[in-house]
Amino acid sequence: MDIRLLRPSDIPLIQHANLENLPENYFLKYYLYHALSWPQLSYVAVDVSRPKKTAYDYPKIVGYVLAKMEEEPTDGVQHGHITSLSVMRTHRRLGIAEKLMRQSQQAMVETFHAQYVSLHVRVSNNAAIHLYRDTLGFKTEKTELKYYADGEDAYCMKLDLNFIREQLEDNDEEPAAAERDGEAADEGEAVGDVGRDPEAKKDKAAAAEKEKKRKVKVGRGLGVGELVERVESKHSG
Ligand SMILES: CC(C)(COP(=O)(O)OP(=O)(O)OC[C@H]1O[C@@H](n2cnc3c(N)ncnc32)[C@H](O)[C@@H]1OP(=O)(O)O)[C@@H](O)C(=O)NCCC(=O)NCCS
Repeated sequence: MDIRLLRPSDIPLIQHANLENLPENYFLKYYLYHALSWPQLSYVAVDVSRPKKTAYDYPKIVGYVLAKMEEEPTDGVQHGHITSLSVMRTHRRLGIAEKLMRQSQQAMVETFHAQYVSLHVRVSNNAAIHLYRDTLGFKTEKTELKYYADGEDAYCMKLDLNFIREQLEDNDEEPAAAERDGEAADEGEAVGDVGRDPEAKKDKAAAAEKEKKRKVKVGRGLGVGELVERVESKHSG
């Protein structure tokens, strides 16, 4: 199984999976809006073991997570939102949904500094509620009455993403500490830049410069906000 970023060419296949698995469906342009605005946040699970019958055979997409950043958060806190998640029946209970969710959550923190992620789930959807609450640690914030078109209520759930930020910071610190230890163990005289690869030094400076740059949201500026289906976005999964 291959978990990778959603590509625009996958969209017809994830639309197919969505139609198979969920009553909340969207126009193609709504998927495209996600893929173009937040290309880092949506992932697909591809069954790579499936034999290719012809050179033009499409990969089999067995699951997807469609996610976005909230463009105008009412609480003023930068956060992500899961628009839709599903896994084909043939591939359930293999940990695919959990992996898709974790990938997206990490990207929300790394790319957009999201503080938390939110979603809606039908109050009758036990499988999804187990996944969100027991496996991933989401908390139920409130119940939104008659949220869905058929009148069913939704739980509005949230997961604080600070734990991911801390993990990323820990990972960043570890190599730095190792580097320091390595230098302390070096008993030789300081030799300035002698013996150091000047290209490596340039790369390091470029990396440090890149680190300083903060990535910003895209999409709104492109005027694609108009592409959102108002009715559908209200009923996102
Ligand atoms: C909900 C859904 C995405 C889960 O996908 P999945 O790949 O089977 O989930 P995972 O294998 O990653 O399961 C992770 C955890 O979720 C929970 N879970 C998943 N399916 C469950 C089920 N049928 N009953 C109870 N718990 C379930 C369990 O806690 C599970 O951990 P465990 O297997 O260690 O017990 C899938 O059932 C689905 O596509 N359903 C239809 C679409 C849908 O409801 N989407 C969510 C909209 S909000």
